[in-house]
Amino acid sequence: TLRGVVAVDGPSGTGKSTTARGLALRLDARYLDTGAMYRAVTLAVLRSGLPLDVAATTADGSDDVAAVALGARVSVSTDPAEPRVRLDGEDVAAEIRGSAVTGAVSAVSALTAVRNHLVAEQRRIVAEALDDGAGIVVEGRDIGTVVLPDAGLKVFLTASALVRAGRRTAEDSAAGRSDAPDAQTDLARRDRLDSSRAASPLRPAEDAVEVDTSTLDIEGVLARLQQLAEDRG
Ligand code: C5P
Repeated sequence: TLRGVVAVDGPSGTGKSTTARGLALRLDARYLDTGAMYRAVTLAVLRSGLPLDVAATTADGSDDVAAVALGARVSVSTDPAEPRVRLDGEDVAAEIRGSAVTGAVSAVSALTAVRNHLVAEQRRIVAEALDDGAGIVVEGRDIGTVVLPDAGLKVFLTASALVRAGRRTAEDSAAGRSDAPDAQTDLARRDRLDSSRAASPLRPAEDAVEVDTSTLDIEGVLARLQQLAEDRG
């Protein structure tokens, strides 16, 4: 049973969500998918009809876009057996994985105002878990570096570009997403945007343990993470 915080960061296609959620289940801990929060506010922006220039977004970005993102009522459940994401009360779990949101999320999450807002909310959710005596596994891009620099264990997942694209393609076809963009192109695009942005770019924390998942299946990654979590007490 986990009492503290495990931060799981890394680019997409590394098995981050499956691993983080599986680890929470094994450790009888809560689970927070911060990417789902960025995706849900992005959906609110898309629904507002405001134009989004994905390539040109800067950390200052557009005040209008930030205002819609900050006004969105996003709630997430932290039960790893049933992770839920709601936008203004509506279950949007499927819609936020669609290609429209995936194409726009890096632009919205590059906005400093949006990040400050969601980071505060993420810290509140974690504090609540710890107050309740529960542990929590938190996954994202900047958890170990910015959101929770004091996490007891920080894991940074990596995988080769080829393996990541293969996983994304399999995921898209399992979910019936026939309009999904080419996985390798899309992952490279998002990596570039997420790693080069001024506000909290994707990078491993200095004290993160890097785990290359290229040649490991999900059981292998979970076993490794569980071992690391147990070693840290
Ligand atoms: O993990 P997921 O692919 O759902 O994340 C979607 C996007 O949300 C990422 O590409 C990134 O732009 C953004 N994100 C972020 N910081 C986080 C989690 C996600 O900027 N902590």
